[in-house]
Amino acid sequence: MAVVGLLVAAGSGERLGAGRPKAFVDCAGRAMLEWSLDALRLSCDRVVVAVPAGLEAGDPDRVAGAPSRSGSVRAALAAAPEARVAVVHDAARPLVTPGLVESCLVALEEGWDGAVAATRATDTLKDARPEDGRIVATFDRARLWTAQTPQVFRADVLRRALAVDAATLAAASDDAALVEAAGGTVRVVDAPPDNLKVTSALDLRIAEALLGEREGPVRAGAGAEHSTAR
Ligand code: CTP
Ligand code: MG
Repeated sequence: MAVVGLLVAAGSGERLGAGRPKAFVDCAGRAMLEWSLDALRLSCDRVVVAVPAGLEAGDPDRVAGAPSRSGSVRAALAAAPEARVAVVHDAARPLVTPGLVESCLVALEEGWDGAVAATRATDTLKDARPEDGRIVATFDRARLWTAQTPQVFRADVLRRALAVDAATLAAASDDAALVEAAGGTVRVVDAPPDNLKVTSALDLRIAEALLGEREGPVRAGAGAEHSTAR
């Protein structure tokens, strides 16, 4: 059963403001996407990377990304017709561990269509109206999770979920939302607290500090547990 990693690295990294695509910015001594590639390769038969157009030339495992993130996922999946299981991951999360990918894959073996790394909401979440900030609802935090990547899906289910128009793709906040909308069953998988996404320059500093604390096989991406070997 072909397990294919779909690493999306085609964003411009505007908020980081490093002057080049975020996935290719140096992070603890190597291009940011390399950390994720190491972690994915341990569980995947192949990893397809969606990169900014022009950077894919000459590499069969690279494809040009799309204007939207989900479009980039779709482009990568289209290059992997052999996939039976798809492991979608943002190159902007360099702290992903092989153990977290494995935990998501285990959920799939239990019969779910998808499994997504997530953490429990720790702050109380409010719904405030945009015009004046008045709070109109407070959510029950006990049921709320913040979704991250990796997000693992049965590839046929993900293909169907991604077969939507460009506006729907652009509006999707993550791949799981598209699969849920298509009727797929997706569960959360408790992620370690340091699986952070690099958005800003501060995030990059934190990620580099955490990666610098990792040692041995986990630093090299060969660990099998969630623990970060601190
Ligand atoms: N991504 C992508 N194709 C896009 C947009 C995003 O492959 N059209 C990828 C990014 O490379 C990143 C992940 O999706 O790994 C999450 O996106 P985000 O953190 O928003 O990264 P950027 O879009 O690069 O950053 P920004 O929004 O600040 O420009
Ligand atoms: Mg973006």
